[in-house]
Amino acid sequence: AHKIILDTDPGIDDAMAIFFAFQSPDIEVLGLTTVYGNVPVTMAAQNALTLCEIAGKDIPVTKGVGMPWVGPESTYAHFVHGEYGFGHIKPEAPKTELDPRSSAQFIVDMARKYPGEVTIVAIGPLGNLALALRLEPELPKLVKGVSIMGGAAFVPGNVTPVAEANIWNDAHAAEIVFAADWELTMFGLDVTNFTPFSPAFVEKLEEKNNTLGGFVKESAQFYMDFYSQNREDRVCFFHDAFPIAHLRHPELFELTEGHVRVGTGTLDRGQTVVAPKGTTPSPLWNEANTIKVATKVDHKKLEQLFIDTYAL
Ligand code: BDR
Ligand code: CA
Repeated sequence: AHKIILDTDPGIDDAMAIFFAFQSPDIEVLGLTTVYGNVPVTMAAQNALTLCEIAGKDIPVTKGVGMPWVGPESTYAHFVHGEYGFGHIKPEAPKTELDPRSSAQFIVDMARKYPGEVTIVAIGPLGNLALALRLEPELPKLVKGVSIMGGAAFVPGNVTPVAEANIWNDAHAAEIVFAADWELTMFGLDVTNFTPFSPAFVEKLEEKNNTLGGFVKESAQFYMDFYSQNREDRVCFFHDAFPIAHLRHPELFELTEGHVRVGTGTLDRGQTVVAPKGTTPSPLWNEANTIKVATKVDHKKLEQLFIDTYAL
């Protein structure tokens, strides 16, 4: 089984992705490490505990960074994910407790415990990963790989015309993570924002799995209200589940290789500027790590994979 750490800011699509990972027989989730993003970090940590309790999963949950690498406290995405991060749902206070370690320390500990085996799946802003790289400079050699949901390589952003939310939230941390010498695969808006999911899909999830799918369906109503504001059809996007699906079924995706730099200025904050491999004369890009960027996914098969996995 793939050993993964899920670094997350739950979040509606985070919840859908976490349950998808929990349900996957070929994935072992070593722990949930939380970070601010959709909601403040304390709420993200509580929400991660709540999701574990709903799923009956007894794994470590840690609290991580609550602010960007540089600059003031973030604004949050309650208008997308609801007051408590799960749409209209007000979760009960969790009964379980957090692991006392920081998210960054937990990542380092697991990488040392299982050298070469752990994939970090980051589906929120990248502060915990940047901090883990500072705590353990050998981290890139210790982990198997890193898969992130974030960025917009060749398509517009969702927070600004050029930036996707996770990268925009902590652009300096993202620069550190993209520069590190590890196997990094990026699932950005190029794939996630072109794969809409319908009300019938979330109903299917509920039908297949009343507890987990039912929670996703209920929280997704608010999420669909948000995504349907400027379009005719009623849809939502489950961005965060893509890197997990790829680990299990890489054949569903098309990827390209490139060097990625992240904008940290005013207008370009959080922009992921991709120079396809071998195309740029600029050393600023050429010297950056080469990463894999997802450009296409088989929508139908992906949807079926989610449904079949929730049904297990
Ligand atoms: C990303 O931002 C968050 O709102 C979602 O949870 C996802 O990780 C999409 O841009
Ligand atoms: Ca997220």
